[in-house]
Amino acid sequence: MSIERIAVVGAGQMGSGIAHVLAIAGYDVVLEDLNTEILDKSIALIRKNMARQAARGLIQDADIEAAIARIKPVVGLDGLGDRDLVIESVFEDEALKRAIYQELGTVLKPGAIIATNTSSISVTRLAAATGHAEHFIGLHFMNPVPVMQLVEVIRGIATDDPTYQAALDLVKRIGKTAAYAEDFPAFIVNRILLPMINEAVYTLYEGVGNVEAIDTAMRLGANHPMGPLQLADFIGLDTCLAVMQVLYEGLADSKYRPCPLLVKYVEAGWLGRKTGRGFYDYRSDHPVPTR
Ligand SMILES: NC(=O)c1ccc[n+]([C@@H]2O[C@H](COP(=O)([O-])OP(=O)(O)OC[C@H]3O[C@@H](n4cnc5c(N)ncnc54)[C@H](O)[C@@H]3O)[C@@H](O)[C@H]2O)c1
Repeated sequence: MSIERIAVVGAGQMGSGIAHVLAIAGYDVVLEDLNTEILDKSIALIRKNMARQAARGLIQDADIEAAIARIKPVVGLDGLGDRDLVIESVFEDEALKRAIYQELGTVLKPGAIIATNTSSISVTRLAAATGHAEHFIGLHFMNPVPVMQLVEVIRGIATDDPTYQAALDLVKRIGKTAAYAEDFPAFIVNRILLPMINEAVYTLYEGVGNVEAIDTAMRLGANHPMGPLQLADFIGLDTCLAVMQVLYEGLADSKYRPCPLLVKYVEAGWLGRKTGRGFYDYRSDHPVPTR
C-alpha cells in the first residue's frame, strides 16, 4: 500500500504540525478546515515554524517554499477523492469525528486509509463508524509535532496488517519513531504521564509541598526537564482533567480519580499558560506560583 497523497482534516494546533512534517518529508498534502481564515492562520504558523527550524539548521531555507507549495488548503471534503490517506485531527468530539468519517465514506476511493489523531477516544469504536474498520488506525502525534520524536500507533480490533504497515512506513519517512500501543484509554504516554501529574496536584492539595518545592523536587530529584505542575500548565489543565476522566471512567479504578484541586482550577478558568494562570501566574515577566 503506497501512500503519496495525504489529507489532514482539521488545521488547528495539531493538524498544522502534522501538515508541516508531511510536507517537509515530500508528501503531497491537502489541508482541510471550516474556513479560509483558519487555513490562512495555519499556513502562516507552518511557515513561521519552518523558519525556526531553518534558523536552527534542521532544514534549508530553500526547502521552506517548496514544502509550503506542497500543502493545498481547502474548505470541504469533496476534493479528497484522490487521497491515499486522511489524517483526522479535528476537535476531540466523538460525534464530530463520526460525522466526518461518514462524509469521507462518500468521497474516498476504495482502500483509502483513515487515521485519527485522537488522544483518548477508542480507536475501535471510531473505526466502527467508518464502515471500513480494516482501513482505520490511530496515529497519535505529540505536541508540538515538528519537535517531538514520537508517534503512538494504535490498531483498532479490525485494523488489517497492510494498514498497520503503511502507518509504520509513514512514521519512518517523516523521521519519527513509532511506539505501538494497544487500544486502551489514553494509550501509553498519557496513561503514565497524566496520573503522575494528577499525583503532583494531590501532593500540592495535601500540603506535602508547595508549587516550587514539587517542581524543583521532580526536576532535580528525578531529572525531569520540567516540573509536573509546570508541565500541566503547558498541556492545559482542562486537557489534563479530560484525560484523567477518560482513565477514571474507562478503567473504572479509583486510582485515576482526578484531584479535586485540579477540578477547582478548571472550574475557575485557570487553565494554565493559555489563560495566563494555572499553577503559575504568567501575567508578569516571570511566572510565579499562583498560591
Ligand atoms: N493538543 C494536543 O496536545 C494534542 C496532542 C495529541 C493529539 N491531540 C488531538 O488532536 C486533535 C486536534 O487537537 P488540536 O489541539 O489540534 O485542536 P484545535 O482546537 O487546535 O484544532 C481543531 C481544528 O479542527 C477544526 N474543525 C472543527 N470541526 C471541523 C470540521 N467539521 N471539519 C474540518 N475541521 C474542523 C477546527 O476549526 C480547528 O481548526 C484532537 O483529537 C486532540 O485530542 C491533541
